[in-house]
Amino acid sequence: MIDTLPFTPEIEARTRPVYERAKAVIPAAEWPLFAPYVDAIARLKRERNAVILAHNYQTPEIFHGVADIVGDSLQLAREAQRAEADVIMVCGVHFMGQTAKILNPERTVIVPDARAGCSLAESITAADVRMLRAKHRGVPVVTYVNTSAEVKAESDVCCTSSNAVKVVESLGVPRVILIPDAFLAHYVASQTAVEIISWHGRCEVHERFRAIDVDRLREGEDGLLVIAHPECPPDVIAAADFAGSTAAMIDFVRDRAPQKVVLLTECSMSDNVAAQFANVEFVRPCNLCPHMKRNTLPKILRSLETLQDEIVVDEAVRVRALAAVERMIAIA
Ligand code: 13P
Ligand code: SF4
Repeated sequence: MIDTLPFTPEIEARTRPVYERAKAVIPAAEWPLFAPYVDAIARLKRERNAVILAHNYQTPEIFHGVADIVGDSLQLAREAQRAEADVIMVCGVHFMGQTAKILNPERTVIVPDARAGCSLAESITAADVRMLRAKHRGVPVVTYVNTSAEVKAESDVCCTSSNAVKVVESLGVPRVILIPDAFLAHYVASQTAVEIISWHGRCEVHERFRAIDVDRLREGEDGLLVIAHPECPPDVIAAADFAGSTAAMIDFVRDRAPQKVVLLTECSMSDNVAAQFANVEFVRPCNLCPHMKRNTLPKILRSLETLQDEIVVDEAVRVRALAAVERMIAIA
C-alpha cells in the first residue's frame, strides 16, 4: 500500500465486525493499514448508493473487507443483472466490468483500474471470430466471458467455466466453436460428445501449472484432494481429483470436507476460501494474476470518489453482446 490513512479508535470499533470475518486470513498487524480504507469505502458506498462486486481472486482485504457480493464469473454476471444500485463497482478485470455494463447500460459501472486486462481476452478479436465463422459456416460460436464486448457481440452465446458444458450441449448441434481458451475447450470436449472447434488462447496464470507438480504435491501428503481450474493444461486436470470453476471449487470443498486440499488456481482463492473452512488445511502452490492484483483498497477509494475508471461500451456493440450474455444466463 502506498498511502496510509490514520487508524483511530473509532475506526477500529466500526471495522471490528469486518475484521472478525477476515481474521483467519488477515494478520492483526496488517489490519491498521486496511481498516481506514475499509471504513472510508463503506461510507462512500452509502453516499454513492454503490455496490461492490468482487471476483474470488481479489485479495482478502477486498474480498472480506469491502465487497458486497463475491463469486465466480457467472455469479458476478447474474448479480450484475439484478443490481439496483446507482453505481456498480467491479473488482476483477476489465471484461468483468464490461459484462456488468452490458447488463446495466443505465447505471454507472466503474472499475478501480481499467488497465486490469486478461491474457484470454487479449488473445482474440472480433475479426478473428468473423474469420472462424467464415471458415466453419453454420457452426454456432460459444464464447467464454473472458473476452471483450466486441468479441461477445460476434457470438451466439457466452459461457463461463461453470456452465460451458451445459451451454454447448444446450445448442443441440453436433459441432460448436468454443473460444478463446484452448484448455477450457479441451476440457469441455472431454465431457461431451459435441465436437469442439477451439482457439489458441490461454490463461497466463493457469497455463503455468504442471502435472509433475501435482505428483510432487501428493508425495507425503496422504489424503490430499487436488482441485484444478478448467483453464489448467489437460494433463494437470487429468492428475487432479476434480476440475471446476472457482465457485465449483468452493462447493466441492464444502461437500467433501477434506482434511487437506490444494486449489490449482490464483493465489487469493485459497486465502479467501480458507476463512470459511477452519478445519481444512490448504496446501498453497499458486500463481498470481497480475491483472487481478491491480486492484487495491486505495484505488477502490479513489474510484468511488471520482467515479473513474468508468466502463463505456458502444451501444451497437452492447446490444449484440447482451443477447449472447442473456442467452447464457437463461441457459445456466
Ligand atoms: P471463474 O471464477 O468463472 O472460475 O473464472 C476464473 C478466471 O480466471 C476469471 O478470470
Ligand atoms: Fe485472465 Fe487468467 Fe487472470 Fe483470470 S486469472 S483474469 S483468465 S489472466
